[in-house]
Amino acid sequence: MRSSEWPKFRVARGDVSNYIDVAGPVDYVLHFASPASPVDYLKLPIQTLKVGALGTHNALGLALAKNAKFFLASTSECYGDPEISPQHEEYWGHVNPIGPRGVYDEAKRYAEAMTMAYHRYHKVDTHIVRIFNTYGPRMRLNDGRALPNFVYQALSGKPLTIYGDGKQTRSFCYVSDLIEGIYRLMMSDEHLPTNVGNPQAEVGAQGRSGRRAEADARVLPGSVPQALKG
Ligand SMILES: NC(=O)c1ccc[n+]([C@@H]2O[C@H](COP(=O)([O-])OP(=O)(O)OC[C@H]3O[C@@H](n4cnc5c(N)ncnc54)[C@H](O)[C@@H]3O)[C@@H](O)[C@H]2O)c1
Repeated sequence: MRSSEWPKFRVARGDVSNYIDVAGPVDYVLHFASPASPVDYLKLPIQTLKVGALGTHNALGLALAKNAKFFLASTSECYGDPEISPQHEEYWGHVNPIGPRGVYDEAKRYAEAMTMAYHRYHKVDTHIVRIFNTYGPRMRLNDGRALPNFVYQALSGKPLTIYGDGKQTRSFCYVSDLIEGIYRLMMSDEHLPTNVGNPQAEVGAQGRSGRRAEADARVLPGSVPQALKG
């Protein structure tokens, strides 16, 4: 993005797990910072916990100081390996806090708890979205999430890697639909965590036809949720 095209837009790089200082007025704080792919958060377990805990605290502190609206990007992984499908917001989840994937799930659960505490105690105007699997242009081919993995392996003629027992299912939401959901939630009066994802089109490794792609089965550290569907 060129600043000449967007003169009012300024990009500043920083680690939100450290104190966040922004000069001048702030209307909205959208906290989306976190390693998000299993490949990233398994490599960065402590940074992942820190950005969910300290990063969320710092971002909420900025919103409080500036009297700004606050928005947290949470995740369907808050439900862990759910016992019910689809998951509704009242379901408290089924999370292994000490497994390798727990660093991401628990960071987001703590982030939600801290956000609700700032809303209830400090009256900050907060919103929380639980994002389900999203896809769209410009994903890294080595991102580690299912769709870019499959695309990369298909393009390079390799067998597709299916984690776990291959029976897990997901529903994928296109990024512009997610953005619209996020915008609507941000403008709403809803303060409790809200699922945004594709409520239909649940797919698994066997596809709708029941035909299985040529697959290279791998076991991912920690349990892989069997079904995540909003
Ligand atoms: N894409 C999805 O399907 C999905 C699903 C559920 C939740 N989410 C959440 O949405 C948010 C964005 O996800 P994404 O898919 O765009 O991921 P992404 O990896 O493309 O973007 C995350 C960004 O956070 C930055 N970041 C990480 N730690 C940071 C720190 N301490 N300080 C500042 N920046 C930091 C990374 O550099 C990266 O630019 C994340 O919070 C993620 O947990 C995404």
